[in-house]
Amino acid sequence: MSEVNRQWLLRRRPVGMVQESDFELRETPLPKPGPGEVLVKNLFLAFEPAMRGWMEDRPSYLPPVGIGEVMRGVTAGQVVESNLAGLEPGDLVSGFAGWQEWCIGDANVTKLPAGATPEFALSILGVTGMTAYFGLLDVGEPQAGETLVVSGAAGATGSVVGQIGKIEGLRVIGLAGGKRKCAWLTEELGFDGAIDYKHENIGERLSQLCPDGVDVFFDNTGGEVLDEVLARINLNARIVLCGGIARYNEEQPLPGPANYLNLTRQRGRMQGFIVLDYLARFDEAAAKLTAWCGEGKIRWKVDVQEGFENAPRTFKRLFTGENFGKQLLRIATPTSP
Ligand SMILES: NC(=O)c1ccc[n+]([C@@H]2O[C@H](COP(=O)([O-])OP(=O)(O)OC[C@H]3O[C@@H](n4cnc5c(N)ncnc54)[C@H](OP(=O)(O)O)[C@@H]3O)[C@@H](O)[C@H]2O)c1
Repeated sequence: MSEVNRQWLLRRRPVGMVQESDFELRETPLPKPGPGEVLVKNLFLAFEPAMRGWMEDRPSYLPPVGIGEVMRGVTAGQVVESNLAGLEPGDLVSGFAGWQEWCIGDANVTKLPAGATPEFALSILGVTGMTAYFGLLDVGEPQAGETLVVSGAAGATGSVVGQIGKIEGLRVIGLAGGKRKCAWLTEELGFDGAIDYKHENIGERLSQLCPDGVDVFFDNTGGEVLDEVLARINLNARIVLCGGIARYNEEQPLPGPANYLNLTRQRGRMQGFIVLDYLARFDEAAAKLTAWCGEGKIRWKVDVQEGFENAPRTFKRLFTGENFGKQLLRIATPTSP
């Protein structure tokens, strides 16, 4: 067993686009589990665009990561030593261990359901699946026959949102960057249409693909797409503000959408949400999503990079659109106890 624990720390607050040099690598001695604790070897780090916000020094739904602290993040790992009833060496677990190779866990560590791989746990059963499920079904209140538009549609969350939309009987149009991602949406995931927002005229294509207007917009990006959709909403439309990745790396706040007054004319609703507010209902979503995946109604994709030293580089892939699927980093492989 290794004698050291490598950790990625937050070195400074990012200005504009997050940089690899905003982090620094440190080695510390391997921690020892005390009573009621487990030693976990982390196998995967999972990356979320929201982590960019956690690096900033401003009030949010979670406190900012401190300078010199281990970068916060969701992980999956394997128990190596246990002083905690209910967890045995070899068990696969997930938690908020952050960007480090080893961690000490306690009762907050979650054992993965039997048969679930870390990849499935970190995508469908993790933040991604939960966000798609509650954001669309609870906040978006979709009705069969309506038109749903999803931005960031080929991403981890957006791709699941669109497929749930199809299960619920909606017409689904997705926006994604590039032909390859757009083809995946229509040819493999069953979206009714896709718009390559990087190369096509967003407004024109929305008018073509949504001739009867938009009833639900699940927004992962903000920016021009939000404005163009607002111009095309129907009576009583719901805009689900899941995220705004187009703005996360901007140095100064950008002006809001010019077409927002259409919400007044159309009696529309624009509502944000944070997935952590639904924690008490995660089991409900996990059961549904697992069943849909088992029935082949939802396909999921992970983008697995390799090597702990690549954590900052892997994080940046979210903001360049290089990731195709839930962005994960494999940092170790499981061993037999
Ligand atoms: N509210 C919540 O509780 C909650 C929870 C989880 C996630 N979220 C939000 O959900 C969204 C998706 O997160 P995810 O984890 O599923 O990531 P993801 O969609 O798998 O990855 C991010 C994607 O965003 C797109 N993107 C990057 N920069 C962009 C830009 N400037 N303009 C437009 N698109 C851009 C890229 O796709 P293209 O190649 O298509 O450009 C990239 O692949 C994020 O906004 C995130 O903050 C919210």
